[in-house]
Amino acid sequence: MNDTATLSRLFAGIESDLDQVDATFEERATSGLDILNSASMHALGSPGKRLRTALTLLTGKMKTYRFDKLVPLSVAFEMVHLATLIHDDIVDNATTRRGNPTVNALWGNNIAILLGDYYFAKTAGLIADINDNRIDHLFSDTVATVCEGTIMEMMTSGRIDLTIESYYEKINHKTACLIAACCKGGAIVSQASDEEINLFYEYGLNLGIAFQIIDDILDYTEDQTTIGKPAGNDLRQGMVTLPLIYALQEQPRNGHYQAVHGLLNGSSQREEDYHSVINWVTRGAGVEHSRADAYTYADKARAALYRFPPSPDRQVLDDLIDFVVSRNH
Ligand code: IPE
Ligand code: IPE
Ligand code: MG
Ligand code: MG
Repeated sequence: MNDTATLSRLFAGIESDLDQVDATFEERATSGLDILNSASMHALGSPGKRLRTALTLLTGKMKTYRFDKLVPLSVAFEMVHLATLIHDDIVDNATTRRGNPTVNALWGNNIAILLGDYYFAKTAGLIADINDNRIDHLFSDTVATVCEGTIMEMMTSGRIDLTIESYYEKINHKTACLIAACCKGGAIVSQASDEEINLFYEYGLNLGIAFQIIDDILDYTEDQTTIGKPAGNDLRQGMVTLPLIYALQEQPRNGHYQAVHGLLNGSSQREEDYHSVINWVTRGAGVEHSRADAYTYADKARAALYRFPPSPDRQVLDDLIDFVVSRNH
């Protein structure tokens, strides 16, 4: 089964709720200003996996399902995610996202920056509609942490000596904390206990770490046709990720260390160097070692989830862990 079909199957029970969330997203992402609205509708045109929306709704189902509050919450999380992707594509100079041209490629960096800002502004209104002080703080802290993560990524770009610890700190900030916040937020509005809220946070955080490790593996192993963005993009942007860190620890390195060094410091931009490093990382232990780490975090997510009694919704959250570690895009 391909990824899209797997997700459709997993999300079957929340399909009509997801549709309602999408409709609210579009309504809130609409602008009376033509150019902003065109860029916004283009960004919504290819919707992505809607993982954050689904996690908010599914964790919100575990106790008292407050759909009236889960709609603005899941729209806010999905919107902040989209805003960070739009800004990330500017930072990365990316021209393709979700199989389509990026906002920056079509409208330029200035409009892309302002569209992201417009979305951030809109999330404040969505969060206000929930009327829960805990959600206000969760949301604000999460967005701040994601910003820090993006800066950490920029600041560590080109660093061949990036440690595994720094890599994990970075992905915790830029990716996992948002996924964790979706799960925690869903639990808060469904009136879960403090202990349950913390367990869902733990589930989401570990799932998010596994998710980003797999994203970083796919950046090496897959290409444009499957992931909707070019292969080896992270390396081309100077981003040192887990598969490369592990590959660099391998011996013998047969001249690859020098090649990586040249690509990261800009002294070489030779296509054959990129190819040889990408092949070396993909075929060597770097990818397998990273995959093993992703499985370790998947197990941690599962351990937190299994503190809840079995139910059909728990099963979907469980199957989502398998999806995250086995996905191809
Ligand atoms: C992409 O997230 C950014 C990362 C955190 C790796 P997704 O892979 O969930 O993006 P979409 O929403 O499905 O496009
Ligand atoms: C996306 O991360 C940016 C944030 C999570 C803030 P990535 O750079 O890993 O995502 P892709 O690979 O461009 O989708
Ligand atoms: Mg990126
Ligand atoms: Mg990536």
